[in-house]
Amino acid sequence: MTNNIRKVVFPVAGLGTRFLPATKAVPKEMLPVVDRPLIQYAAEEAVAAGAKELIFITRSGKQEIEDHFDANYELQSELAKSGKDELLKMVNEVLPEDVSCVFVRQPQALGLGHAVLCAKHVVGDDPFGIILPDDLIDGGETPCLAQMAAIFAEQGNSLVAVEAVAHEDTDKYGIVDAERPRGRLARMKGIVEKPAPADAPSTMGVVGRYLLTPRIFQLLEETTPGSGGEIQLTDAIARLLEEEGVMAYSFAGKRYDCGTKLGFLQANVEYALKHPKLGEEFRDYLQTLTY
Ligand code: G1P
Repeated sequence: MTNNIRKVVFPVAGLGTRFLPATKAVPKEMLPVVDRPLIQYAAEEAVAAGAKELIFITRSGKQEIEDHFDANYELQSELAKSGKDELLKMVNEVLPEDVSCVFVRQPQALGLGHAVLCAKHVVGDDPFGIILPDDLIDGGETPCLAQMAAIFAEQGNSLVAVEAVAHEDTDKYGIVDAERPRGRLARMKGIVEKPAPADAPSTMGVVGRYLLTPRIFQLLEETTPGSGGEIQLTDAIARLLEEEGVMAYSFAGKRYDCGTKLGFLQANVEYALKHPKLGEEFRDYLQTLTY
């Protein structure tokens, strides 16, 4: 498979207020689903899509994300000394050796579009992916961004992942207006950020996976504050689809909204049930509960 997606951006500068007090001193992206922090699932998905450079858009208080992807000499030498080879391997293999990380500070919380724009000088002139780690997607054998990279390699249009959302929830998502789908792909006619249900063009909601051409950066530079007074990625995509084609992609897999407590708990239960070492015991335990 030819794959042009070498760079993936992770906007991780959010405050995580929905998980306070857990996120008072710990970035929300470091909250674990079973045994891995959310950000690691996101990084693994990027790597599976061919990424060699992971670009994190951070702010103060997000140091742990940087530490997670760095070496930890003390821990590594302790594990090596005590012969804990399996754990050592786990720590050493957080990322493959040929993948590097770049951390860029977002100086002000001006919105998702602004966060992505902060990656401009690192991304340069290449198409790139964006993963919002709050949206954990179990895509099975082919993770969501890898599915998108394969389609991009064939047809070259920017792609936005979508799924049907409840009508009353349109004000929580970017909502897409699209032509009639062909299989999983539909050419977008419009996109609007967090419309009220009465104003929504559809119930096709954007989830946190994007694969965009670098033209988006110029458009972001021209984007003025929109929904919530923030510079919205959605608004720049609305312009991109007028200039170039942008496709809505109904991904294969299941998404967990780990930006909410319920979605986060659902992810933990389902990933625990699927866990190779824990699954069976956890299933037995669940069966003992009466509710
Ligand atoms: C962001 C985007 C929105 C998208 C959502 C997916 O919103 O602005 O268009 O539907 O992510 O999770 P946020 O959830 O950051 O408010």
